[in-house]
Amino acid sequence: MSARMAAVVLRRFGGPGALRVEQVDEPRCPRGASLVDVSLAGVNFDDLEHRRGAEPGLPLPAVLGVEVVGRRRRDGRRVVALLRRGGGYARVAAAVDAHCVPVPDDLDDAQAVALFEQGATAYGALRLAGRLRAGESVAVTSAAGGVGHLAVQLAVAMGAKPVVGIASTAAKRAVVAELGADVVLAPEQVGELRAVTGGRGADLVVDGTGGDQARAALRGLAPFGRLVSYGWRGGAAGCGWVDVGTEELVDGSVGVAGFWMRHVVDDRALLTGIADALFDLARAGALTARIDRVVPLAGVGAAHAAFAARQTVGKVLVDVREVG
Ligand SMILES: NC(=O)c1ccc[n+]([C@@H]2O[C@H](COP(=O)([O-])OP(=O)(O)OC[C@H]3O[C@@H](n4cnc5c(N)ncnc54)[C@H](OP(=O)(O)O)[C@@H]3O)[C@@H](O)[C@H]2O)c1
Repeated sequence: MSARMAAVVLRRFGGPGALRVEQVDEPRCPRGASLVDVSLAGVNFDDLEHRRGAEPGLPLPAVLGVEVVGRRRRDGRRVVALLRRGGGYARVAAAVDAHCVPVPDDLDDAQAVALFEQGATAYGALRLAGRLRAGESVAVTSAAGGVGHLAVQLAVAMGAKPVVGIASTAAKRAVVAELGADVVLAPEQVGELRAVTGGRGADLVVDGTGGDQARAALRGLAPFGRLVSYGWRGGAAGCGWVDVGTEELVDGSVGVAGFWMRHVVDDRALLTGIADALFDLARAGALTARIDRVVPLAGVGAAHAAFAARQTVGKVLVDVREVG
């Protein structure tokens, strides 16, 4: 008989109230995977999409949560893991070995898991898709978000100048300035991108919401500038994918690129290389994930609601050892 564990279970698609703590069987461990005794799980925007049924094909009942940190049972190693099939909001997760990365002893669990998926997204958008070079100017939309607040710090660490952070409230903008942004703007000020970069325009824009901000940011790119899109807010006013024509790209000598973590996760050398780079920066004091809140399993629904209401700044974590 399988051992039992506490987990947050989704039995029907819906609002945050659809998430319930239950006792369920520990997951089976497929070939090429290991069981991980989880300490903390991360909350990601994708979890909200899965919860409300926006991603077709998710079989129910389901345990959501795509990233965890904990101890691998097989060898006792502390690892962070990305879980493509979910299962993170639980005391035990089955993690594909190729998607696990060892955590250095001097990095705590909260930092490790908060840096992994969102840090790699920020890194990939800046470096892989954005081809950022030291001395270039960078603008980051949603700069107080889970990805955005790491992108600001990474841009600074990579030598970008100036780094412009865009966020919706004064409180968020104060945090973005503390993170090292040279200039902070409200979303309705994105049209000033050219002015705040000395009239040249931004060399790189890293964007996670699309819509109005991305449109305005495109107009604020310098010649040979790039806009990297890594996310969108489906159905939200002023957000969503942006249609771009090649004519406007030629007009401005600008480019648009996309970034999706899947292509990092599928490349073991890339995944471990980026994780190690992030962990090294964190250990050197150049990158710190801001932990917005840590909730018990019973608090995941409320955390989803806060996330959707734009109330979180930085990373939201679930302590799966606490039921609530
Ligand atoms: N491409 C990839 O591989 C990848 C990986 C991870 C995440 N993502 C995507 O990246 C995006 C950001 O993820 P995240 O983890 O950084 O999320 P987050 O912590 O919730 O931050 C997102 C930010 O979006 C802004 N926003 C603008 N309009 C919004 C709206 N209507 N509702 C909610 N937020 C709104 C908010 O900033 P302001 O209030 O300042 O506007 C919020 O801080 C998501 O779309 C996610 O799916 C993509």
